[in-house]
Formats: sequence, C-alpha cells, structure tokens
Amino acid sequence: MVKLNENFLNLKESYLFSEIAKRVNAFIAENPDKSVIRLGIGDVTLPLADMVIKNLHDAVDEMSKAETFKGYGPEQGYDFLRDAIKQYYKRNKVELDIDEIFVSDGAKSDTGNITDLFSLDNTVMVPDPVYPVYVDTNTMNGRKIIYMDATAENNFLPLPDSNVHADIIYLCSPNNPTGAVYNREDLKKWVDYALDNNSIILFDSAYECFISDETLPRSIYEIEDAKKCAIEFCSLSKTAGFTGTRCGYTIVPKSLKFKVSDKTEISVNKMWLRRQTTKFNGVAYIIQRAAAAVFSEDGIKEAKKMINIYRENAKIISQTMEKKNIRYFGGINSPYIWFECPNKMESWEFFDYMLNKIAVVGTPGAGFGKNGQNFFRLTSFNNKENTIEAMKRFEQI
Ligand SMILES: Cc1ncc(COP(=O)(O)O)c(C=O)c1O
Repeated sequence: MVKLNENFLNLKESYLFSEIAKRVNAFIAENPDKSVIRLGIGDVTLPLADMVIKNLHDAVDEMSKAETFKGYGPEQGYDFLRDAIKQYYKRNKVELDIDEIFVSDGAKSDTGNITDLFSLDNTVMVPDPVYPVYVDTNTMNGRKIIYMDATAENNFLPLPDSNVHADIIYLCSPNNPTGAVYNREDLKKWVDYALDNNSIILFDSAYECFISDETLPRSIYEIEDAKKCAIEFCSLSKTAGFTGTRCGYTIVPKSLKFKVSDKTEISVNKMWLRRQTTKFNGVAYIIQRAAAAVFSEDGIKEAKKMINIYRENAKIISQTMEKKNIRYFGGINSPYIWFECPNKMESWEFFDYMLNKIAVVGTPGAGFGKNGQNFFRLTSFNNKENTIEAMKRFEQI
C-alpha cells in the first residue's frame, strides 16, 4: 500500500490570502458603491518594459526558423544569461564564476527545492515573521524548525545568538513582510555565526533591487567569507516585473563545501548541479532572452524606472505613517511598509476596521507569524493615483 508523506499533516492551513479575499468580497457585496483600493498584494502591477517585450518577440521569431530554433537548453541556464548575471554582480563588486550561477523559474521554487540537498536531521532557523515558503517546505520534509524573534525591539532584524545552534539559516533582506534590511556589520555577524557553527545561510535577496542606500549590501557575497557559508536566491520578479514571466537565479559558490560522515568534503555547487540536471530541464529560451535584456545597460535603466515608481508609492505611504505618528519599518529600501496597528489593535481587527472605514485592503501581520500579531503590511505595488487616494483616506482613520 502506498504510504503518503504524513509531514503534510503538520502544515498549517494557508488561509491568509483566501481569508482576505473572502472578507473583501463580502464587503464589496454589501457596499457595491464603494471603491476598494488594494495595497495588500505582493505582486507587481506595471507591464514588462519595452526592451523586454522586444526581446521576447525576437526570441519567438528565432523559434520559428529551423536555423535558430532551440530545443532543450542547458539545465543551469544559457551562458548568455549567466554571463549577464555575472556582470550584474560585478556592479556590487562581487566576482562570480559563471558555473556558480544557476538560472531557474524563480526564487520560490529554488528556496524550496534547495531542501533536497540537506539531511532531514538538520535544525532549520527562520525569522518570525517569515515568508511562509521557508517553513512549509521544511515542514513537508519533516525537519525541526526553530524561530528567531523579529520584533520592533530589534528593528525586525534578529541577530545570531551563540547559545542557539542551527544548521540551516534562512535570511531575507530586504525582508518580506517587514521591509527591514540588514547592514553589512550585522550581516557579517550572521556569516561569522555560520562559519563558527558549520552552518549554511540561505539568503533570499528577491528585493535587492529596492535598495537605494549604497551602504547596504545587495548581496550577501559583499560580506567577506560569505562564499564559504551562503547560497543566494534572487529573482527577476520584482527587479523587472517577471512575476508572471518567471525567471530567477541561485548562486552556489564553488568554495561552499562541507564534510560528510566519511570525513571527505563535498561541494554544494556540484550537488545542486546534480540536483538540477536530474529534476529540472531549464527555463524557456524565450524567457532567458528577455531576462538577459533586463541586465543590459538599457535594461537596467528601464527596470530602475519601474522600481522608482514603486519607490515613490512607498514614500507616499511612509510619509502618511509619519504624519499619523505611527511606528513603521521598511518603505525606504523595500516595497513593503510594515507598521504597528493603531490603538493596540490586533492585525485582523485592524484589517476589518480599515476595510469598513476607508475601503483599503492590506495584509494582516498575523499571517506571517506570531510577531506580526499587532502589525500590518502595505505594499507599493499599485499605481500612484490609487496610493495617494488610499493614503488620503488613511489620514482620516
Ligand atoms: C521573500 C520572497 N522570496 C521569493 C519570492 C518569490 O519569488 P519568485 O517570483 O521569483 O518565485 C517572493 C515573492 O513574493 C518573496 O516575497
């Protein structure tokens, strides 16, 4: 008889976005005349840049001719894209070898798939609040998960505790949902902790493109020795509006090696290559062509223009928080504004209050963990007009 993976029974019901939709739909049914503004989504709203569209079209044309048609490509990505990513990292003074770069269909898949490389008896450490993928993928495998508290007291940037041991550490900076960003000094503390504990850091930099403060690290490899202890995940989803187009990349340095039970050293890069070539057949050529355009000189400029529009929205939201004297985090180097619910309200209570009073939708912090109980997330992924109107209404609460 087939035996199912009963670890699935340990997954918490993922009801955050369905519950939001349910409450919003009920509100709309009762108030058909009210215009609801959604500032809760983590999805981009601007269309793909002209340059990306042009490259998509050109690549489609290539697929239509026998001379330029492409079948299976390299599982780890075409060299033209890996080289473009290598050059992109050089801008932050990070030198990568092309075979340390693995192209994928996004950071969500890779942050989940990477768990294939690790034994089930590792202890995993995640922040609370957290991007749920880290928790759910490890729960599916049955690994022990411990939580580190991210709170207003530590600016939602927990630091390592030498009395607590973890083998696998997930860090996300700029953070979803809190918008908090590690500085170099604090990220170095994590690198030192990982090196001291023979641990690995899984660094999610999906929002690196929002960092405008040049003193903040956009890649963990800007920190000395991080190549000995960290894997980095990134994505074109937020960088260039690829949430529906799907393309990301994972960096697995060749110097990332760990001893196994027979005392030999194993290369994590080789393991990931083996994993990907076994279970993955690469990203579509057409998409990789479009992705490579993003990293060209003009592509970076176009992407920046889009990001600046979201940044402007984030600023509008942040300014409203300041006006209302509400404690908030993020909003500067991040598309997310994470704020304390007024009057000590609980986050779902505030969700209902805001929806009913001003018809604005956000995301209750409780959906990301216990430390989000009294916090709320607004996002800059909407147009300027709606953002201004939502904040005008917000000033009245
Ligand atoms: C922290 C974080 N990592 C990864 C992702 C997913 O990225 P992708 O679209 O590349 O799968 C998201 C998406 O919202 C995210 O918030």
